[in-house]
Amino acid sequence: MDTQTHSEDRLDAVALITGAASGIGAALAQRLSPRATGGLILVDHNERGLARVADHLPEPPERVSTLAFDVTDPRRWAQAGDFIMDQYGRLDWAAANAGVAHASSIPDLSYEEWRRVMSVNLDGVFLTLKTVMPIMRLSAQGGAIVVTASAAGVKAEPNIAAYGASKAGVLQLMRVAAREGAPDGIRVNAVAPGGVETPMWREQPFFQDLLRETGSERAAFDRLAAGATPLGRYASADEVARLMEHLLCDSAPVTGATLVVDGGYTL
Ligand code: NAI
Repeated sequence: MDTQTHSEDRLDAVALITGAASGIGAALAQRLSPRATGGLILVDHNERGLARVADHLPEPPERVSTLAFDVTDPRRWAQAGDFIMDQYGRLDWAAANAGVAHASSIPDLSYEEWRRVMSVNLDGVFLTLKTVMPIMRLSAQGGAIVVTASAAGVKAEPNIAAYGASKAGVLQLMRVAAREGAPDGIRVNAVAPGGVETPMWREQPFFQDLLRETGSERAAFDRLAAGATPLGRYASADEVARLMEHLLCDSAPVTGATLVVDGGYTL
């Protein structure tokens, strides 16, 4: 029997995560912390949230950087690229994960809200890729990237035009990046979660209504999951983060793939 393992653990690997202050990104920071021995770069516009996550990392690497900026800002990304080259000189793993949700029918969706969602979810991933791929290309070993898409980018539902279109765009962007990165050994994959129990839901008015109706967040999530998820439950942030860690660190030669993590919702 072939007992060879194919872990891609690297000496002094450096990792970057966007949307690291909360939910899935924060859970991924916990998971990568012991493995990214060369350093961890946490990006989010929520500065206090970033500090909280950085203060509670298990087995943290010697160098942890928190970069508080808006992922839609190209100027800040250019500075971040210079910072990474200057302070770390390399980048092995990156997660383009920051995102926002909005629920509204097309006629009720303002152009400003459409632009905000497209800008964070799609432009933000583009700017992440544009920054990290040239740095990864400098290493003979290449690198690995995971983007956080959504089941909403695969399955059409009413009231998620901006969110669904942005996430469908993220999936195609990921595939193009996988083609472009392959000659340099850069793998690019996506997770497409269905429902995940994270703070993102709290901002949605319909979730607030559900909270009032059911009396607790637990009951509200259970009600949502019972509606359309065959497995009958949403994923935890850590369950999704574990699969992202796998795509980043242990899944050569997988590239251009979408790992749907939705309890059967899209079936
Ligand atoms: P979350 O709200 O807990 O985390 C999102 C993080 O992104 C926050 O820390 C927020 O501050 C950050 N962020 C938002 N806009 C930003 C900007 N312009 N610049 C910098 N940082 C920004 O939500 P969650 O669930 O952890 O979301 C992570 C990713 O997972 C998102 O891309 C989301 O679309 C995706 N996702 C979430 C699902 C869910 O059910 N929670 C389902 C499918 C996908």
